[in-house]
Amino acid sequence: MLVCATHHVDHTRAVAAAIAGLVEDGDLIVLVGDLGAGKTHFTQGFARARAVTDRVTSPTFTLANRYVGDIVINHLDAYRVEQLGEAEDLALPELLEDGVTLIEWGDNLTPILPMDRLEVRIMLGHGDDDRRLEFTGVGPGWALRWADLEAAVADWRVA
Ligand SMILES: Nc1ncnc2c1ncn2[C@@H]1O[C@H](COP(=O)(O)OP(=O)(O)OP(=O)(O)O)[C@@H](O)[C@H]1O
Ligand SMILES: [Mg+2]
Repeated sequence: MLVCATHHVDHTRAVAAAIAGLVEDGDLIVLVGDLGAGKTHFTQGFARARAVTDRVTSPTFTLANRYVGDIVINHLDAYRVEQLGEAEDLALPELLEDGVTLIEWGDNLTPILPMDRLEVRIMLGHGDDDRRLEFTGVGPGWALRWADLEAAVADWRVA
């Protein structure tokens, strides 16, 4: 596991931007953390870094938002997992084939998620703007890139 600390929303966006430089089509990033932890702002920083100019908003009441930058970015929110319907309705395998996918509250979908994914857990810290970001690579795809990931987020790394 890799741990970063941020002390401002822009730092969290910057960490996400650094990670965005490492992804390729087909990647899945699962964002875990309480309400207001920073999952949507992480996604904003990520998308901006991949040349998305549309405003990235919370997809809570839509199934999935799709953004096109220099790659396609799918943004899902699985907070109300029942709202996403059956796994078939979500068409996750098809979605994952087209671009990079970030899923807020993705831990709610663990049973139907593919093996290879990056899990990002965002936790509140002591101050209002303090966050702890824990990164865990699941599957071989991220193991191969782990040294690159460590280098990309070195400025914010605490463990
Ligand atoms: N270091 C930080 N990193 C991320 N967000 C921060 C930080 N400091 C303050 N914030 C604030 O925390 C809030 C995070 O909101 P955001 O919508 O990204 O959370 P979320 O995890 O997506 O919540 P939800 O589960 O409701 O979708 C924003 O208001 C943001 O400005
Ligand atoms: Mg959100």
